[in-house]
Amino acid sequence: MRKFCDLSGRIAIVTGGASGIGRAIAFKLASLGATVVLGDVKLEELKNVVNEITQQTSSKVLPLYVNVGDFNSAKEFYQKATEILGIDYVDILVNNAGINRDALFVKMTFEQWDEVMKVDLYSMFNMTKQVVDGMIRRNYGRIINMSSMSWLGNIGQANYSAAKAGVIGFTKTLARELAKYNITVNAITPGFIDTPMTRAVPEKVRQKIIERIPMGRVGSPEEVANLIAFLSSEEASYITGEVIGVTGGLVL
Ligand SMILES: NC(=O)c1ccc[n+]([C@@H]2O[C@H](COP(=O)([O-])OP(=O)(O)OC[C@H]3O[C@@H](n4cnc5c(N)ncnc54)[C@H](O)[C@@H]3O)[C@@H](O)[C@H]2O)c1
Repeated sequence: MRKFCDLSGRIAIVTGGASGIGRAIAFKLASLGATVVLGDVKLEELKNVVNEITQQTSSKVLPLYVNVGDFNSAKEFYQKATEILGIDYVDILVNNAGINRDALFVKMTFEQWDEVMKVDLYSMFNMTKQVVDGMIRRNYGRIINMSSMSWLGNIGQANYSAAKAGVIGFTKTLARELAKYNITVNAITPGFIDTPMTRAVPEKVRQKIIERIPMGRVGSPEEVANLIAFLSSEEASYITGEVIGVTGGLVL
C-alpha cells in the first residue's frame, strides 16, 4: 500500500538548498522518495548537502548552481536539470531561497533594497516561469513559496517585508490561475527558525524575540520542512492559495 505523503516517482526542485530550511526540505522530500534537484549560489556547500542526503536516502539528488534572482540563470538551471534527468517537467517547485539585508529605512541603501527584491521576489517569477508549462501539460503540480511572518511589517525590514508580502500576492494569484490544471500554489510564513539567517541576529534581540513566542523556543528547519513535504504530496490536493504559518504561535 502507498504510504502517506509518498513522493516516489515525483521530481522536485528546491532552491536555497545549501543551508537552513532548504537543506531540511531536501532531506525530507528525498526521504519520502522524490528525486530532488537542489539549486543554490553556494555550489560547494550544496555538494556537501547532497553527499549527506545520498548517504542517508536512496533517492537521486542533483546539485546545480542557480542565482534565483537572475532570469537567465534560472532558465539555464532548469534546462540543465531536465537535460541531466532526461525529462521535460517537474512535479514540485519549492521557491525557498531568500536573503535579508536589514536596515532602518532611513539608512537602507538602494543596493540593499534591490538585492532583496531580486532574490526574494523576482525569484518567484524567474523560477516558476520555468516549470509552469510542464505542470500545465501534465495537469499536475505543487508550488510552495517561502514568505515570512515579516510580510506583516517588521522594523528594519522594509525591503524583506515588501518582498515577502509580494510573495503572498503572487501565490494567491497563481493559485487562482492554475487551479484548473490541478496545480496547487501555497505560501509558508515561518516565524523564527534556527538557521544561519537567524543566528546572525544579535543574542539580545534573539532573546527578546524568543520571549514573544508562545512556545518559548525557536523552530527547527525540520518543523518547516514537514509542512512543505505535506503540501508537496498528493494528499494536499485540495489546499491552494493558502498562507500557512510555522511560528510556535508568534504573531507580529
Ligand atoms: N530562518 C527563519 O527564521 C526564516 C523565517 C521566515 C522566512 N524564512 C525564509 O526561509 C527561506 C530560507 O531561509 P534560511 O533561514 O534557511 O536561510 P539560509 O541563509 O540558511 O539559507 C538560504 C539559502 O539560500 C541561498 N541563496 C541566497 N541567495 C541565493 C540566490 N540568489 N540564488 C540561489 N540561492 C541563494 C543561500 O546560499 C543559502 O544556502 C528564505 O526565503 C527566508 O527568507 C526564514
